[in-house]
Amino acid sequence: MEYENIRVETRGRVAIVTLHRPAALNALCNALIAELNHALDGYERDDGIGCIVITGSEKAFAAGADIREMQDRTHPEFYMADPFGEWDKVGRRRKPIIAAVAGYALGGGCELALMCDFILAADTAKFGQPEIKLGVIPGAGGTQRLTRAVGKAKAMELCLTGRMMDAAEAERSGLVARIVPAAELLDEAFKAAETIASMSLPAVMVAKESIDRAFETTLTEGIRYERRVFYGLFATHDQKEGMTAFVEKRKPNFENR
Ligand code: HXC
Repeated sequence: MEYENIRVETRGRVAIVTLHRPAALNALCNALIAELNHALDGYERDDGIGCIVITGSEKAFAAGADIREMQDRTHPEFYMADPFGEWDKVGRRRKPIIAAVAGYALGGGCELALMCDFILAADTAKFGQPEIKLGVIPGAGGTQRLTRAVGKAKAMELCLTGRMMDAAEAERSGLVARIVPAAELLDEAFKAAETIASMSLPAVMVAKESIDRAFETTLTEGIRYERRVFYGLFATHDQKEGMTAFVEKRKPNFENR
């Protein structure tokens, strides 16, 4: 399928989505989000895909939601159309998604990265929630996910001043999993995705679901949930295969079921 605002590619069991609106630093217009969700819908249904990478350009992962598209919106238009409801779908995907971020990840760009399961950052990455400078606030989870990721003090400072943080600060704060040289970003993200996609997909999906649970429930409930799904994995073929392969000192041959 040909898209206008994204490029898609699959390599083995990994899908790579490249945000592609170079003239607007990948500003996330409604059409782009719709295309992204269309592509992700397909990957969720495709048994041949085990992990997805979302990336942008060297200069920008995404410089935010599209300001030109938003500027003349009225309250009822926004309320009725609920465009950020579409964004939410990205954060509710069941297969793992890695954000590979180089350059600007601002506003909705930072929020999109935060919806992914983890962020790999190029040393050129810059993160921020500059919406306050536009007279608004983050609207796609920034005040919530960023706060959970970096804590109140830094989230508050970033959202109230609109200042950017560089890759090193983002890593120190726990926003990004790892920093890599910009030239190696996509290779590193692909390698991580390939590793994940080589595991048992049911186990990967359950691990993702369980970690996400940590942000939504109490410790007691979360631990109970983890234990239930852990036991549940013993109903899979891949658990038997994984443990048998270990005992037989060979590589497992997961069937993703
Ligand atoms: C629409 C954008 C854009 C955006 C950049 N562009 N960001 N268009 N929406 N968010 C466009 C510019 O208008 C310009 O178009 C072109 O991209 C290049 O940008 P420049 O500003 O000329 O580049 P540069 O001087 O290098 O500055 C880069 C920048 C700056 C620091 C990233 O573009 C910037 O501050 N952008 C806005 C960042 C921002 O406020 N993001 C939050 C958006 S609100 P032309 O046609 O002039 O060449 C948001 C709300 C989220 O995200 C709510 C939930 C989804």
